[in-house]
Amino acid sequence: MRRTKMRRTDPGGITSNQILGIFGTGYAGLVTSVCFAELGHTVTAIDKDHDVVARLSDGTPTIHEPGLQELLTGNLESGRLRFTTKAEDAVVGSDIVFLCVGTPPRADGRADLCQVEEVARTIAPLLDGYKLIVEKSTVPARTAYWVDWTIRRLAGPNREFDVASNPEFLREGTAVQDFLKPDRIVIGADTERARSRLLDLYRKGFHCPIVATSVTTAELIKQTANAFLATKISFINMVSDLCEELGVDVATVARGVGLDPRIGSHFLNAGLGFGGSCLPKDLNALITVAEDNGVDVAMLREVERINTARVERLLAKVDRALWVLPQKVIGVLGVAFKQDTDDIRGAPSLGIIPRLHSAGAIVRVYDPAAAQNIQKLYPPNDRLAYVASAVEAARGADALVILTDWDEFRSLDLGGIRSLMRTPIIVDGRNLFEPARMRAAGFEYHSLGRGEATLRTVPRRVPV
Ligand code: UGA
Repeated sequence: MRRTKMRRTDPGGITSNQILGIFGTGYAGLVTSVCFAELGHTVTAIDKDHDVVARLSDGTPTIHEPGLQELLTGNLESGRLRFTTKAEDAVVGSDIVFLCVGTPPRADGRADLCQVEEVARTIAPLLDGYKLIVEKSTVPARTAYWVDWTIRRLAGPNREFDVASNPEFLREGTAVQDFLKPDRIVIGADTERARSRLLDLYRKGFHCPIVATSVTTAELIKQTANAFLATKISFINMVSDLCEELGVDVATVARGVGLDPRIGSHFLNAGLGFGGSCLPKDLNALITVAEDNGVDVAMLREVERINTARVERLLAKVDRALWVLPQKVIGVLGVAFKQDTDDIRGAPSLGIIPRLHSAGAIVRVYDPAAAQNIQKLYPPNDRLAYVASAVEAARGADALVILTDWDEFRSLDLGGIRSLMRTPIIVDGRNLFEPARMRAAGFEYHSLGRGEATLRTVPRRVPV
């Protein structure tokens, strides 16, 4: 369907209303579509899945994301946003086409770029005049080169286009807010035409630094950002293990170092480590790109190893707390990879729940948003149940194991929970509570890296 271009032009002569085609309606694609429409642009978002398109066209979000519902409904009603399964609707007549399709990890850990390549092949024959094609999916450095190569090969000599990179830094759970109020915008373009079009798109409505750079630099900025966040988490988790040995509280150490602005207090929460669809994948992708280019990234391999070991550390604590697991009732609080999302991709729960179950425990799982997703992987059986509340998970339990940092768990009625449990044991993989407060509330409380030794405490290991 060809669209009539109706543009608003602001007093400075800058075109403010662009026509955007967006491939992919996952986290990045849907949030990008809805938010650009909210900013006044005309957006056509495309997904191959008819059910997804039907649900979104009906105003039903396919992901759990605060603030999304209102923006979806409002922009569908205004006519600035629509969803389709037809690629030509998103390409023909549009100014900019965004690639927001998935790049899931392959079995070997590399990013699977099949969907990106498929979109490049789809776009090529549909080009009608100059088109700016923008990579927003998180991809390994140099992917834009292959997108450009694929389109050039298939589009014919007279088709005009540029490929640019405009990585997103959205966090699940705060993605809408992150999009509308970003801390920076990165624009990677190798031609003046592509750069000025993207700068134009972000000129209105955004008040943050813009880093305008080359395409490959932009790709690398995204991967480096996620790998650095992962490194910060593994670093504090390594310190957390040392804290346990020395009888020191890692939360206080993190506060003490994080107040130094050169270090910063974010991403220093020790616990079960990082999951999700981004940090693990991007860390791995950066390792691969570096190793393919002969660069030693042993440090990043260590970041990965420390993270993987977190699950074992938590399971060892459960073992120590309960001694034997068969027929013990374990309430699991949280399966999402972090709070405020229903996403379980890369979540530590995926490693922990099957292990508790195969060790013979009776497992009762509660999550405020993600239980439905994990049920598809591990259907209920006589020793695995999904319950409707934390209270239900605690009823008659020998232990509660906390795997996600939901605020709802922080505000539990601890007295009520304790009175329901067979033995008041909590193994907390997210360090949600103060150990002293939990002891005072009558719990045997195990967390990660939370020692309380004083000078009068006998050291665990005596130096020789
Ligand atoms: C991450 C980045 O934070 C975003 O900037 C980026 O845009 C996004 O990936 C992406 O590439 O699309 P996200 O995956 O939503 O966002 O999750 P984070 O908030 O980064 O958390 C990742 C994991 O680290 C979670 O499992 C969380 O529980 C864990 N984490 C986080 C910690 O264990 N400790 C911390 O201090 C912080």
